[in-house]
Amino acid sequence: MDERILSGEEQQEDEFEINIRPSYLNDYVGQSEVKENLDVFIKAAKMREEPLDHVLLYGPPGLGKTTLAYIIANELGTQLKTASGPSIEKSGDLAAVLSTLEPGDVLFIDEIHRMPRFIEEILYPAMEDFSLEIMVGSEASTKNIHIDLPPFTLVGATTRAGDLSSPLRDRFGIISKLQYYTEEELTRIVKRTGKVLGAPIDEDAAVELARRSRGTPRIANRLFRRVRDYALVMGNGVIDLEITKHALDKLKVDSLGLDDTDYNLLKSIIEKFNGGPVGIEAIASSIGEEQGTIEDVYEPYLLQTGLLKRTSRGRMVTPKAYVHLGIAYQENMFE
Ligand SMILES: Nc1ncnc2c1ncn2[C@@H]1O[C@H](COP(=O)(O)OP(=O)(O)OP(=O)(O)O)[C@@H](O)[C@H]1O
Ligand SMILES: [Mg+2]
Repeated sequence: MDERILSGEEQQEDEFEINIRPSYLNDYVGQSEVKENLDVFIKAAKMREEPLDHVLLYGPPGLGKTTLAYIIANELGTQLKTASGPSIEKSGDLAAVLSTLEPGDVLFIDEIHRMPRFIEEILYPAMEDFSLEIMVGSEASTKNIHIDLPPFTLVGATTRAGDLSSPLRDRFGIISKLQYYTEEELTRIVKRTGKVLGAPIDEDAAVELARRSRGTPRIANRLFRRVRDYALVMGNGVIDLEITKHALDKLKVDSLGLDDTDYNLLKSIIEKFNGGPVGIEAIASSIGEEQGTIEDVYEPYLLQTGLLKRTSRGRMVTPKAYVHLGIAYQENMFE
């Protein structure tokens, strides 16, 4: 299984990403609830000539949080300034980004859960009153300086909403959770990507690709590129169902879009815990992943595809998972 191909994680931003990234809400496929709400709030903010309330976007990697942040700035007709949680280490780092803001700008902080707590505390007044208080100088002569900031909108993105301190979470007026995409939505995304890149893909081929993309646009677009390569080199450039299936099989992309970690997780529940129920801590230690990562990145997709279920006594694999893994299903004697 190719980890790189199937992980929802971001790799380097390249020209490809920039070209296919939708710029306005209208081109942003799916997430209809999030989109409808944002549309209203953005329009209202513009009518009132006030900045949009701060927005927190959360959900598994590759579902379009960064894309949505850019769209919010475009729809507001303002600029987007970016920072990421782990890169803000000192109060000066935060002050530096904040000081570049112009009235109405969007400040996007990716992986906001990885920002140090003391930085969060500097962010509170900035979010509430658009003011910045920082200490300058050395031990002997420290002084507090106060800086007025222009009104701005903070858009925070995180895969781990649970890791955010509640005072920080409470300061976001708009909190939106992104969901995995349906096959139909991913099909539309793949077809759109084909069009934008001048490499149209047949309808049935787009459906096949969508089905194997783990509900994740980033994975769908990444697979699309590889399939396009196969079509060019092995076929006649036409991206049809046959070449798509051939390419995806060669890439060892699972028919449900599962990756190595998904496999390990399901197998370990079957082999070590007799199919479950088993607690999340035990699963985490048996496959050497962090509990939070399992809860936020892996489990949601497995629950959605019906391979795993949650019971009051822990997680259980379903008969569908046995079938999918090709393991004979044995009724649990102790059930
Ligand atoms: N709703 C959508 N419609 C069309 N394309 C989308 C949509 N959402 C995401 N994409 C595409 O998927 C890719 C990944 O999206 P994005 O980078 O915004 O994900 P992300 O949620 O920020 O991921 P991460 O958590 O890893 O930062 C982008 O190239 C974008 O073009
Ligand atoms: Mg992102």
